[in-house]
Amino acid sequence: MKKIDTLLKQTEFSDEDIVRLLQITDPQEATLLQKAAFNRTTEHLGNQVYYRGLIEFSNICTLDCRYCGIRKSNHLVPRYELTKEQVVEAACWAAENHYGSICLQSGERRDSKFIDFVTDVLETIHQKTVSDALPSGLGITLSLGEQTLEVYKQWAQAAGNPIGLRYLLRFETSNLKLFNHLHYSKSHHDKGLERRYQALKDLREAGYQVGSGVMIGIPGQTLEDLCQDIRTFQKLDLDMIGMGPYITSPGADMLGEGMMEKKALMRLALNMIAVTRLVIHDINIAAATALQALEDDGREKGILHGCNVIMPNITPRIVRKNYQLYANKPFIEQEPSDSNKFLQHCIEKTGRTVGLNVLGSSIHWKKRAGQMQ
Ligand code: 5AD
Repeated sequence: MKKIDTLLKQTEFSDEDIVRLLQITDPQEATLLQKAAFNRTTEHLGNQVYYRGLIEFSNICTLDCRYCGIRKSNHLVPRYELTKEQVVEAACWAAENHYGSICLQSGERRDSKFIDFVTDVLETIHQKTVSDALPSGLGITLSLGEQTLEVYKQWAQAAGNPIGLRYLLRFETSNLKLFNHLHYSKSHHDKGLERRYQALKDLREAGYQVGSGVMIGIPGQTLEDLCQDIRTFQKLDLDMIGMGPYITSPGADMLGEGMMEKKALMRLALNMIAVTRLVIHDINIAAATALQALEDDGREKGILHGCNVIMPNITPRIVRKNYQLYANKPFIEQEPSDSNKFLQHCIEKTGRTVGLNVLGSSIHWKKRAGQMQ
């Protein structure tokens, strides 16, 4: 077997190398991997971490993903929708607090009332957030599930900021059997995973910086699956990746299948982030909130392992407790300004700085879109 320090000097990695790195448990090897990923990030992306203020504007969902705490069939969660005014107010708070971007997330709906609501909200946010500090307005990331190409285009136009326009749509796992298991597909002929890949292509066509990702440590998932996930990130030519540990949720259908032991899960999640960074240098990688559900400083650990984006939750506090995709979701009680100050301090402890009033677009996308100065 290759020695870790030899392996970490490589710029190309075989599947065997990737699996070898993913399975690291030895603390000394883990530190070497962490340092290599952190340094690779600095080399390609500099020292800044970017904020995306996360607004979870509704937990109403038409889907029944078996891992998710807000799936349609969980009747124990009170459902909510923020008003347009509440969403716009949260977005303006982000702009006033020097966030360059926000992320709008909700349960998945495809009805025209929902589509028009999002369109209206996007237009208003853009109008209200163009300023000297943000000449093209807030950057907008949408995380609103699978929609049609026409809808992606309608929202892109409404967002009014083509250089800060992004969409997150995780494919969750590239293992078809596992994907079908997660999504309750009745037959193996179901085209769910293919549809997800097609949606990612449509998003690119509609002009978005395209982000996707997976859950790490899903029951039944292997290291080979995670390696194939990284190969899929490459094949899809993603601009952004968001991935985090799989955590059981009391309201989810998969509760009985259990989850990995917390320490081992954290190790695997950090390994996956670090290896992804070593394989793909110039993409944005978000430190998922789920990391922090496992350990208080989980997201800082994410930054140390190659993440360069953080998504502080700026959802109004009154509804936050009802947007629990998994157990132990952090910051449910905190006001945005508290978590903001605290977060800046945490990020600075890693040696990074916070990129304020900047869009922080993916360098990978900038190169493709000819946006590099
Ligand atoms: N554990 C971890 N991540 C989860 N997500 C949903 N449920 C869970 C869970 N139980 C993630 C999915 C989804 C994103 C919005 O949240 O990856 O794409």
